[in-house]
Amino acid sequence: MHKVFTAKYPSNIALVKYWGKYGNQLPRNASLSMTLCKAYTEVSLICIKKKNPEVEIEYFFEGSTEPVFYERILRYIKGQKEFEKLVRNYTLKISSKNSFPHSAGIASSASAFAAIAAVLLKASNTIRAGQFNKQASRLARLGSGSACRSFYGPFSLWGKLEGIKDSSDEYAIPVENVHKIFKSLMDAILIVDDSPKKVSSSKGHSLMKGHPYAAARFRDANKNCKEMLSVLRSGDFENFAFITEREALSLHAMMMTSREHYLLIRSGTVKVIEEILRYRKETGLPLCYTLDAGPNVHLLYPESIREQVHTFIQQDLYNDLKTVIYDRAGSGGTILKVNNGTA
Ligand code: DP6
Repeated sequence: MHKVFTAKYPSNIALVKYWGKYGNQLPRNASLSMTLCKAYTEVSLICIKKKNPEVEIEYFFEGSTEPVFYERILRYIKGQKEFEKLVRNYTLKISSKNSFPHSAGIASSASAFAAIAAVLLKASNTIRAGQFNKQASRLARLGSGSACRSFYGPFSLWGKLEGIKDSSDEYAIPVENVHKIFKSLMDAILIVDDSPKKVSSSKGHSLMKGHPYAAARFRDANKNCKEMLSVLRSGDFENFAFITEREALSLHAMMMTSREHYLLIRSGTVKVIEEILRYRKETGLPLCYTLDAGPNVHLLYPESIREQVHTFIQQDLYNDLKTVIYDRAGSGGTILKVNNGTA
């Protein structure tokens, strides 16, 4: 007897950044992200009943073996007690594919671990319906921190914040009462450089240990999360832009001032940012940028000015870019299907 589970989970882009962790994948500060829509990972899991006690887990990414990611997934699956029974009783065949190119600088570990945690939890069949997202978010976090925020949309909050009910370092929660201007927020991902990351996020997180500005950074991020929650409710785009851009630059400032300092932004990044600021000043339109841990720029704007922004990108930015990926706020992931079959 075998069972097949399929899930589709999106990536997300942090507006208030998670940068620094402790213990078992716990964040040093709260973070808040916009869930993407078109940038997702689709995972299928085939569970085949077995009798022998050996761990049998296969992993394919877009049809090929990926030894480095396989080792990470293997360690992850073996490390979770929730998956113990599943691993003992079944051979697990996992295949995953992304809707976006690897080089796009989109956090693929966020969507991958959200989808993998979700299918494995579904297959292990131990969770009551109302608890599924909470537990899947917690398990995804143990694979990659930012993955825990991909379960809800359009915005998701991860990390204990004083005064915010249900907020937790263990899992993310949905942001409630979002103003309509932000519900359909667009994200044009401006690819400045598509070469592989020079310094991993794990390395970056570890450099926050003993960072001279760490305490101030963690305090500031928590404060920004609280302010962002109220901005998302009120619809105040000016303050949304202010917090989002300061957060992006703070993240990179941490990299530039850590013990082993490094620079992920390129001259193209700065050029694109300056063009965005010029265009905003000239037109007064509500748009802003953020950065992930890389050189590419996310341009955020409401759906109502979509046409103007596309023209701006084509006319003023395109020459400095490798490509553009147009995405928008999404509502989180789903388990697509569960099939019973015979082996
Ligand atoms: C800059 O979630 O990739 O994207 O927990 O080590 O897997 P691990 O780190 P990861 O870090 C993401 C850092 C970031 C900011 C963010 O998404 O909040």
